[in-house]
Amino acid sequence: MKVELVTYRKGQARSVIYEYVPREEGERPMVLDVLLQAQATKVPDLSFRYGCRNRTCGICTVDINGKPRIACRARARDGDKVSAVSTLPAVRDMVSRRDGIARQLRGKLPHTLRANDLNVEAPADYHALTACIECYACLDHCPMHARNLDSGGDKRNEDGAYRWGSPFSLLKLQRIRLDPVASGLDGEKAFAAATDLGLEICRDCPGCKCGVGIDLKNKVIKPLLEAASEPTAKD
Ligand code: SF4
Ligand code: SF4
Ligand code: FES
Repeated sequence: MKVELVTYRKGQARSVIYEYVPREEGERPMVLDVLLQAQATKVPDLSFRYGCRNRTCGICTVDINGKPRIACRARARDGDKVSAVSTLPAVRDMVSRRDGIARQLRGKLPHTLRANDLNVEAPADYHALTACIECYACLDHCPMHARNLDSGGDKRNEDGAYRWGSPFSLLKLQRIRLDPVASGLDGEKAFAAATDLGLEICRDCPGCKCGVGIDLKNKVIKPLLEAASEPTAKD
């Protein structure tokens, strides 16, 4: 099986064709296995990220044939092309700069949680949103996030956070709204943050897709847009 690995160094992309050597007969390796073997043999300075190897940490996401995939859970196929995700600036090879997303929620998460009472029941929709592994696969084709990178730019606030949101950031904010130990004020702040990050863009968007199957359209975008449509005291 031959796989094309796109390396990225000093602004230059270059393709390396790597032939995977199966470790046992009939092996069906994951793309992360291919990257690890390539690094151990032909491309010793190949750069990529991984952690859990079990679809939990979310940091191994790469583009496979132009689509974001979790490398430790994506089967490699002959002819696959593996590159850094196209939705974030590349640092080197398959490593992308993720901090613009991570910084976005600083100061927006609740500091005033009520006492952490283990007897408090969270709604099912809250639990559904805890499945997010922060892989950022949902940035693909998101017109809100695309504004951060318009015309090859990298639009950040002074604190290094991206100006515009993404399905991931809206998920985190909606989760606060459903969190039974967050205060009502925290929920209001989370909603205001979602609005500030560009929630209205979602009205004209067919919806987002999650890398691990969370129903973003119905569990995140729809309730936020419904809240935005509710009349306020001023209306
Ligand atoms: S919402 Fe889904 S695709 Fe987006 S970061 Fe979380 S797990 Fe990944
Ligand atoms: S619905 Fe909103 S968050 Fe989802 S892809 Fe569209 S613009 Fe992005
Ligand atoms: S290595 Fe953790 S999700 Fe792939």
